[in-house]
Amino acid sequence: MNNSNFDPRQFRQALGAFTTGVTIVTTRGRDGQDYGMTANSFNSVSIDPPMVLWSLNKDSSSAQAFTGSEHFAVHILANDQEDLSNRFAKRGVDKFAGLSTTRGADGIPLLEGCSARFECRTTYQYEGGDHIILVGEVLAFDRFDSSPLVFHGGGYRRLLEPVVVQDHSVYGDNWLGFLLGRAYYQMQMPIRQQLKAMGMSDLDFELLGMLSFGEGKTLTELRRLFEFVGKDLTRQHLDVWVQKGLLTLETTNDEAARIYFTESGRQLTIEWLAFAKAAEMTAMESLDYEEAQQLKLLIGRVIQQTGETLPQHWRKENIWQDNNLWQQPG
Ligand SMILES: Cc1cc2nc3c(=O)[nH]c(=O)nc-3n(C[C@H](O)[C@H](O)[C@H](O)COP(=O)(O)O)c2cc1C
Repeated sequence: MNNSNFDPRQFRQALGAFTTGVTIVTTRGRDGQDYGMTANSFNSVSIDPPMVLWSLNKDSSSAQAFTGSEHFAVHILANDQEDLSNRFAKRGVDKFAGLSTTRGADGIPLLEGCSARFECRTTYQYEGGDHIILVGEVLAFDRFDSSPLVFHGGGYRRLLEPVVVQDHSVYGDNWLGFLLGRAYYQMQMPIRQQLKAMGMSDLDFELLGMLSFGEGKTLTELRRLFEFVGKDLTRQHLDVWVQKGLLTLETTNDEAARIYFTESGRQLTIEWLAFAKAAEMTAMESLDYEEAQQLKLLIGRVIQQTGETLPQHWRKENIWQDNNLWQQPG
């Protein structure tokens, strides 16, 4: 290890391997103005007496305000406060503009919406190279039930709550294929039960789904779509649907006959699609908006990685037609 002439950028990057939360430290200066800055150097020091510390860059424009003040407040930011963090990391802007604050000890400004908040009396200040280490005794604190913002490797991160999967499977729960499959089948379970109650099979489910993207497909086209999901659609199967009065064929005895919904077929499909949408929403209930977006994004990446062979006829432009269920003619 060489510590005499290493590159400060690399040193910073190495320090970035240490994952932290993000805080905003505020104070009221001797001039009566509010000051605040984003800091991730915060840490706990002592439980009894309760003490915390953080380090303040001597070059910061609010350095004098912090060293000259007898109190400061540390706000541990929640995962939706990235913008606030960026605002308080900028020099020369009115950081408190438009923010609603309350007042703590000595009039120090207290911010809202964070994960936890500590009001401190400055007890020690230590020289620390280009920083000053401020140690404070905690006079009061609040804790709120929100997930924290995380900082790692120079960027913001969010915590993913670990899940405890019950009923470990024989395949092992670390296999992505199994996890995706299990999630899919469990999500489909209530839909399947509903289909059963409506007198339909899995194949019916797929058939209606495929037709709902656009009617007027031929049996040959539908077969090709089915092949991709490893299933076989027979003419007899289709005929059952025609006999039930749910589908109609343009001509009766031709593979090239185009297949359409009857009015009652359309109604039934709309009904189960609404049901399927509701089941999806239930499945996503434990995720907040951002997590749901991330999940879709990550699955999207797996799809992209493995999707070289997606057949032409499965591509959106080829399967989605103007006459889909959501744009009824007339
Ligand atoms: C995630 C993050 C963590 C930071 N941690 C610290 C810190 O611990 N100490 C510090 O002095 N500056 C830290 N900074 C930089 C200050 O927030 C930044 O220099 C700010 O402009 C200081 O404001 P001022 O010059 O108005 O006082 C951090 C910035 C970010 C984005």
